[in-house]
Amino acid sequence: MYDISKFQIKENPVILGLESSCDETAAAVIRGRELLSSKIISSATEQAKFGGVVPEIASRAHTEAVDEVVAQALAEAHVSVNELDAVAVTYGAGLLGALLVGLSFAKSLAYSLNIPLIAVNHIRGHMAAAYLIDKQLKPPFVTLLASGGHTAILHTKSFTEFEILGGTCDDAAGEAFDKVARVLSLPYPGGVNVERLAKSGKNNIAFPKCLVKNSKSLQFSYSGLKTAVINYCHNLEQKGESVVREDVAASFQFAAVQPLVQKTVECAKQLGVGTVTAGGGVIANGYLREMLKGECDRENLRLVLPEKAYCTDNAAMIAAEGLIGYMNGNFASLDINARAQIPLK
Ligand code: KG4
Ligand code: ZN
Repeated sequence: MYDISKFQIKENPVILGLESSCDETAAAVIRGRELLSSKIISSATEQAKFGGVVPEIASRAHTEAVDEVVAQALAEAHVSVNELDAVAVTYGAGLLGALLVGLSFAKSLAYSLNIPLIAVNHIRGHMAAAYLIDKQLKPPFVTLLASGGHTAILHTKSFTEFEILGGTCDDAAGEAFDKVARVLSLPYPGGVNVERLAKSGKNNIAFPKCLVKNSKSLQFSYSGLKTAVINYCHNLEQKGESVVREDVAASFQFAAVQPLVQKTVECAKQLGVGTVTAGGGVIANGYLREMLKGECDRENLRLVLPEKAYCTDNAAMIAAEGLIGYMNGNFASLDINARAQIPLK
């Protein structure tokens, strides 16, 4: 009989993390906050043919990859399945069919091994990636979160409690990168290709920054910036002039990134919080990373920045957030369902 009230909480548990919310099937193993392995099988190349993620293709790819990726993660960690103390899995937000593959796999494993199942909110996973980089890291800190679906600056007060200091009122930063990539005829995945193109361009076009003016709260707007890029390109094309795509990419990147960095650092200073962390796919952007490092150094703030591979979707971050859930006895019942949307708070 599977009874979640009977599970004991161990020190330094061995946790398998599973992630399947979009086009990456990922598995990772941690022991306490030590990362033992992290493996990803991606369907991105397949998705690129369609210019974006096709949910049905993602679900099928997860079904084909999940067994293999878990086996790879266990093997690299030198952990046998019987040594697992818990399974942490993304239950939302994401593509429902895709989520269900990971969730069903995790439920079966938890049930057959009679170990706790921890249901992880994907976006909280992105915030937790930093815990594996600095094992001593403890709240409070200010977190910059920027992914395909979210953009926010957060005050993390404890491992389970945070305040949203500011965020986007329309598109997310990653979404803007993806849309601008399309305007510049760049292939999927958009963000990283905009970054590549921007490397050979100049920041010489004054696009509006993504900050909402005259707003007392800390609000970002990416839809205006995206429209400004579209209008700029269309106007030149209508006049028969050529668009220097590299300069558009570099100028957009600056306008999209600089306010995020500036406001994150300002928030930390104002709150008197000495540590800054970051997570989400956009944090893999090299230009943003350099700017954030530079600003944190200048302001004497400690920056805990996950490597690029732990900013984009991965299962190590899911295991890391799973550890917080495990330590708090926050175990899921086996009838938990996947959720396409979960509010940040
Ligand atoms: O966190 P993530 O992998 O998935 C979500 O949870 O959304 O973030 C994906 C987003 C996409 O919009 C992608 O274009 C963006 O992160 N991204 C980047 C870079 N790598 C991924 N944006 C800018 N520069 C990058 N290098
Ligand atoms: Zn993500």
